[in-house]
Amino acid sequence: TMLAGVIGWPVSHSRSPALHNYWCARHGVDGAYVPLPVAPGALAAALKGLMAAGFRGVNVTIPHKEEAFRLVDALTAAAKRAGAVNTIRFEPDGTMRGDCTDGTGFVANLEAHDCAMSGQALVLGAGGAARAVIAALLDAGCDVLIANRTRDRAESLVAALGGGTVIDWDRWPDALARCTLLVNATSLGLAGHQDHDWTAPLREAPAGMTVADIVYVPLETPLLRAAKARGLKTVDGLGMLIQQARAGFAAWFGTWPDADAETRVLLLRGL
Ligand code: ATR
Repeated sequence: TMLAGVIGWPVSHSRSPALHNYWCARHGVDGAYVPLPVAPGALAAALKGLMAAGFRGVNVTIPHKEEAFRLVDALTAAAKRAGAVNTIRFEPDGTMRGDCTDGTGFVANLEAHDCAMSGQALVLGAGGAARAVIAALLDAGCDVLIANRTRDRAESLVAALGGGTVIDWDRWPDALARCTLLVNATSLGLAGHQDHDWTAPLREAPAGMTVADIVYVPLETPLLRAAKARGLKTVDGLGMLIQQARAGFAAWFGTWPDADAETRVLLLRGL
């Protein structure tokens, strides 16, 4: 049995084990994917141990993505751009290759929703999650505007990525009229921020705009609810979760897994 898993702290909430084990069964792969709770500071030892135990590789999630970036022996171009690693393959020669599939998964999911990658996109946020998404949108050919509560963080991101334009956090609704895509990559999508008002800013949104949130708990975030009420097309975070997982599954188990409606239904059952 080929082994893989997800390293995080906490990790019990992760839907990745359900997803990968479903794919193993569906594609006849003799594999198993397990949750691996690893405390901050213990990542290097955990990776070494898992490699010695014969694991094919792992996903890495909060809070370990930046440390994983520093620990691996080789990085893909996407990981370099994102400054983070979420997928590691243990190579037969004992080295670790780090990839970041968050941004490419996000774009693949938008494309699956027929969202054009050519226009102007506005991304809210400048943390680690925003960086992966912004890098992938730039690489896909979008013109990216970035608004973040702490403007300096957005400026650093633009400098690091060599693309994108920073706009004021207080003024982002004014930029909507020019945008075909709005992405929330702040933690304002999470439960606990249910009271944030998205209705007023969305008044300026053009009718053809797509609105995306990168979190999937809750599946319908306050932003997506407001966008739906306004009649806008919405894309939730579950499709991104599925798309970002595909490259890891292929790298460890040698099969490119399906990302169809049935896969989504499987995950919806557990939310
Ligand atoms: P992640 O790695 O998941 O992106 P992060 O680095 O903590 O996490 O980033 C969280 C993002 O949400 C940041 O863009 C943060 O803005 P700041 O850079 O100004 O901190 C944003 N954010 C969090 N709470 C917010 C709030 N109440 N209003 C606006 N933005 C918020």
